[in-house]
Amino acid sequence: MRRLLACTLALATLAPFAAAQKSNGLALTPPMGWNSWNWFAGKVTQDDVKKAADLIVSSGMRDAGYVYVNIDDTWEGKRDASGVLQTNEKFPDMKGLADYVHSKGLKLGIYSSPGDQTCARFEGSLHHEQQDADLYAKWGIDYLKYDLCGFRKDMQTAAPGDDAAAKTVQDKMMRNAYETMHQALLKTGRPIVYSLCQYGFDSVWQWGPEVGANLWRTTGDVSANFPSIALIAETQVGLAKYAAPGHWNDPDMLEVGNGKLTLDENRTHMGMWAMLAAPLLAGNNLTQLTPEITAVLLNKEVIAIDQDALGKQADRVYKEGPVEIWSRPLADGGHALAVINFGEDFTFLRGIDLHLKEAGIRGNAPAHDIWSAKDLGSLQTGYKGGLKRHEMLLLRFGK
Ligand code: GAL
Repeated sequence: MRRLLACTLALATLAPFAAAQKSNGLALTPPMGWNSWNWFAGKVTQDDVKKAADLIVSSGMRDAGYVYVNIDDTWEGKRDASGVLQTNEKFPDMKGLADYVHSKGLKLGIYSSPGDQTCARFEGSLHHEQQDADLYAKWGIDYLKYDLCGFRKDMQTAAPGDDAAAKTVQDKMMRNAYETMHQALLKTGRPIVYSLCQYGFDSVWQWGPEVGANLWRTTGDVSANFPSIALIAETQVGLAKYAAPGHWNDPDMLEVGNGKLTLDENRTHMGMWAMLAAPLLAGNNLTQLTPEITAVLLNKEVIAIDQDALGKQADRVYKEGPVEIWSRPLADGGHALAVINFGEDFTFLRGIDLHLKEAGIRGNAPAHDIWSAKDLGSLQTGYKGGLKRHEMLLLRFGK
């Protein structure tokens, strides 16, 4: 009995150490950078990525923290006789590209799938995980987005249907597939941020850290329109407790500057992602950066909320009709509070209590309005003002 107890105690002391080994020590704040998919999709070329790297530097994005330049799907060619993956003609020199990106003080990210094919039907990593991870390390890759897509058919083949028994088998396969690449990446010895893309299946936020994920997608794909952004925001309720330094919920990449988003919508999108401690991966065409979009992407105070060292994602503390209030505590003892009008009409906030108490904010704490860059003083007696359709009031409170 005593031996059994000693053994259990020894295992219990080992457990936290084993868990700590899962972490690669990267992404202590949410990764920031740019990804090719939202603008270029399947058309992206090596030259586009080089140009993006140049513009990330010249626009000031790099110095604001946007350091990952991530190539999404459609760079892959075929495997040679020994199974080594080649790039396709759009990416003639991946090593040269990595060197170029690194020479600018940036990092290079890449994309693959645990299936035999990626989502865009290019070559995936199935049965070649270590070979691919070694190749990434050889090139100097710093970030991998690993997209379930092509592996879903293997899961269906192994356990057809969607009843509980089939789902159990499929979910196990999915976790194993992510763990296989995790181990392969670790074996390379190169620090590579590991980004899971499986749209939130099987509550990935509960097991992502176990398979070494630095971030995991919590939703399907974002689109460049406000309903898509609002829907994603809605589905993040309840996920705050799963985010922490090194392990982030990923509500998908930014669409700031894409589609026909208005200035208010771009600000609400950016501000909401910052509240969510989301990765900030711009997805716009950097050759067409306007001063307005630059100001949204480079707002230092918004970025500071996203990158706050405490790493606590916002929770929703209030919702009435289209108006919602989200709050997150910050490392300096202060808080960020976002009031969002997801509705179509102007809304007076006069009657709306800011719910400071529920948000954990001291009544007389001084408030700073981030988007209008104004100190508001204490809001103890309420907030007077209103929000246009899709507008966000973003406040930072002192201790
Ligand atoms: C989707 C993924 C997108 C993009 C695309 C590429 O599955 O969610 O973000 O990576 O595949 O084919």
